[in-house]
Amino acid sequence: MAKVTVIGSSSMDLVVTSNIRPGAGETVLGESFKTVPGGKGANQAVAAARLGADVSMIGCVGEDHYGKAILENFKSNGVSVKNVKPVTDLDSGTAHIILAEGDNSIVVVKGANDYITPDYVEKAKEKIKDADIVLIQQEIPEETVEYVAQLCQELKVPLLLNPAPARPLKAEVIEQVSYITPNEHEAELLFEGKEKEEVLKQYPNKLFITEGKQGVRYFNGEKEVLVPSYQVETVDTTGAGDTFNAALAVALAERMGFEKGIQFANRAASLSVTKFGAQGGMPTRKEVEESL
Ligand code: RIB
Ligand code: NA
Repeated sequence: MAKVTVIGSSSMDLVVTSNIRPGAGETVLGESFKTVPGGKGANQAVAAARLGADVSMIGCVGEDHYGKAILENFKSNGVSVKNVKPVTDLDSGTAHIILAEGDNSIVVVKGANDYITPDYVEKAKEKIKDADIVLIQQEIPEETVEYVAQLCQELKVPLLLNPAPARPLKAEVIEQVSYITPNEHEAELLFEGKEKEEVLKQYPNKLFITEGKQGVRYFNGEKEVLVPSYQVETVDTTGAGDTFNAALAVALAERMGFEKGIQFANRAASLSVTKFGAQGGMPTRKEVEESL
């Protein structure tokens, strides 16, 4: 069993479905409203657990109704929450999602996720030391991502950084992490002005650019490779990136190899979009293997 430690956000997703996406100053009538567990960190932890990994979460929730529901959800998915602390003075993180016109738009309020500071993570250092791979994203303070990148390098523990949502990153962080998985938009921000081909070559077997329906592109040391996505009927793409990252982390921890690992992760992500909710369609190990 691969030991995966996830450092990141846990949120409640407040999801509205609507035929039309309202513009600025506009009001429209929606179809439905649902509250489902989300947050990039939590999504990745749940996805990795469903894929058979031994998962520890390092996170934070509010001491509120959503916080309780988030903790329950971790437990029912077999994620260890010893390092997910409830805090009294901030609300649980929330993501305000509109599903309209075949795509989502999201506003994230970090809330208690801002408590995931370097000091907070340091207290759970044993879980980092002990991991086969660590997964981190960017719905938590920037200093924490910088701290973890340095710590993992010192401890020689592989770190996969999913640089989402997009924000600029110090060059040294890109050097320190083992793997980085931007989408095209995030890659443009990170490597501004440089040709894609050039940056891929600069980071062989480390930089994986996710191109949505197209697939995932990387440089394997000899040539550029595009591992195609699986085309499926899409219900909700929320959480597809999280499923991809978790599955890739599990695959790399199991030494599946890059191309096979990306295929596995693409398959998992494609299954995840066939159901509503970030975690709704996240597949089990068996489901991925049967569909490969
Ligand atoms: O990556 C998907 C997640 O991003 C959603 O679950 C939502 O919480 C947003 O933060
Ligand atoms: Na889904």
